Amino acid sequence: MYNCVMDDTLNKDDIERAARAIREADRVCCLTGAGISAESGIPTFRGKDGFWAGRRAEDLATPRAFAADPEDVWAFYLWRRQLLADKVPNAGHTALADIERSVDHFTLVTQNVDGLHRRAGSERMIEIHGNLLLDRCTACGVEVMRTFDDVSDEIPYCDACGAMMRPGVVWFGEMLKPKDLYGAQAAAEASDVMLVVGTSSLVQPAASLSFWAKSNGATVIEVNPDATPLTAAADICFPHGAGAVLPAIASRVFD
Ligand code: OAD
Repeated sequence: MYNCVMDDTLNKDDIERAARAIREADRVCCLTGAGISAESGIPTFRGKDGFWAGRRAEDLATPRAFAADPEDVWAFYLWRRQLLADKVPNAGHTALADIERSVDHFTLVTQNVDGLHRRAGSERMIEIHGNLLLDRCTACGVEVMRTFDDVSDEIPYCDACGAMMRPGVVWFGEMLKPKDLYGAQAAAEASDVMLVVGTSSLVQPAASLSFWAKSNGATVIEVNPDATPLTAAADICFPHGAGAVLPAIASRVFD
C-alpha cells in the first residue's frame, strides 16, 4: 500500500483517470520543469523569485554573456550551486521515481539542472539542459562532475589544460546534445501517456515534446498551479502543486 494522505482539494476522479492511464500505458514519458523543485525551495525561472541580483536568467545564461564577462556568469552559477547545497528532493520527485518503477517503458525528460530527480531515485532520465554540478573545459572539452564536497566559490580551471571551465548546462542560443534531443523526442512521440509537471511550456524545444506526444495520440496530463500554453490541449489538468498531485497519482497507480 502506497503511503499518501490525499489533499481534499484534488479532483479524485481526475486522479483516478490519470492513474488508470498510467497503469494501462506501455510507454510513459514525463517532462519536468522548475516547478517540481519549487517545493524544495529552489526558485523557478519565471516566478517572482526568479531573478538574481535584479537580472533575469535569460540575460546571464547565454554564450554571449559568458564571452563578455565570464566572472559575472560564473558568479550566477556559483550562487546557484550554493543555493542547491542544502536542498533535498520533495514528495513530487519521490512519487515520480516510484511511478517509474511501475511502468515498463518510462523516460523522464527534465529541464532542471538541480539533480534532485536522480537523488530521489529516478534512473531512466535525460537531463536535457545539463547539470549544475558539471564543469566543462572551454578549451579541451573535458567534463568533470562535481559533488557538493568539492564545489568551491572559486571559478574552476581545467586540470588537464589549464583553461577556464564553463558550467555544463545548455544556455539560451545553444543546441541540446543531439543524443538527448533525439532521445527525448523519441520517448515523447512513442508515449501513451505524457505527464507534464511544473513547466511553463515556453522554452523550446522541450515545450514541443508534449504537443508531439498529443498529436501522436498520447493522453497528456498537466500538473501546474498556473495555466500554460499546453493547458488547453491537455486531457487532464491538475491546477495544484506537484508535491500534492504526484503522490496522489502514485498511490492510485500502485493500488
Ligand atoms: P519556469 O520558471 O518557466 O516555469 C515554472 C513553472 O512551474 C510555472 O509554470 C509555474 O506555474 C509552475 N509551478 C510553480 N510551482 C509549482 C509546483 N509546486 N508544482 C508544479 N508546478 C509549479 O521554468 P521551466 O518551465 O522549467 O532553461 O523553464 C524552462 C527553461 O527555461 C529552464 O530549463 C531554463 C529556463 O530559462 C535554460 O536554462 C536553458
